[in-house]
Amino acid sequence: MTPLTVNGVRHRVDVEPDTPLLWALRDALLLTGTKYGCGAGLCGACTVHVDGQPVRSCSTPVSAAAGKKITTIEAADQSRVGKAVQAAWRKLDVVQCGYCQSGQIMSAIALLNTHRAPSDADIDAALAGNLCRCGTYVRIRAAIHEAAKALA
Ligand code: FES
Repeated sequence: MTPLTVNGVRHRVDVEPDTPLLWALRDALLLTGTKYGCGAGLCGACTVHVDGQPVRSCSTPVSAAAGKKITTIEAADQSRVGKAVQAAWRKLDVVQCGYCQSGQIMSAIALLNTHRAPSDADIDAALAGNLCRCGTYVRIRAAIHEAAKALA
């Protein structure tokens, strides 16, 4: 049993220690907002926060997250920054197919948690590992600026 604290709730999940965190979240805890894209740490669809840092849950063994504070998209609206990001996403109608957007939002929140007035270059660098096959990058960038303005 691996102890996991997810979105402020303590769990014990019955998975092998090398199971990717993504599958513990999706299959054991039924938190399916975090998506599986590539499974190789390349697309960012599976991004969650571990102790506040954005990580690729497909490439993070559950044992590495044990005892740490994990936040998923399901709790993104529990912080001021997360609320601002989600409001900006809705206002600017960012989403197209939506598949990558949980990961995009988690990366955007992590960026704004440490950098309240990011430039386009900062945004591009912070979200470089989050791919969107619909090409919503321009709206994502605009929404992050919008959220930063709301948080100022
Ligand atoms: Fe984890 Fe693509 S599914 S980075």
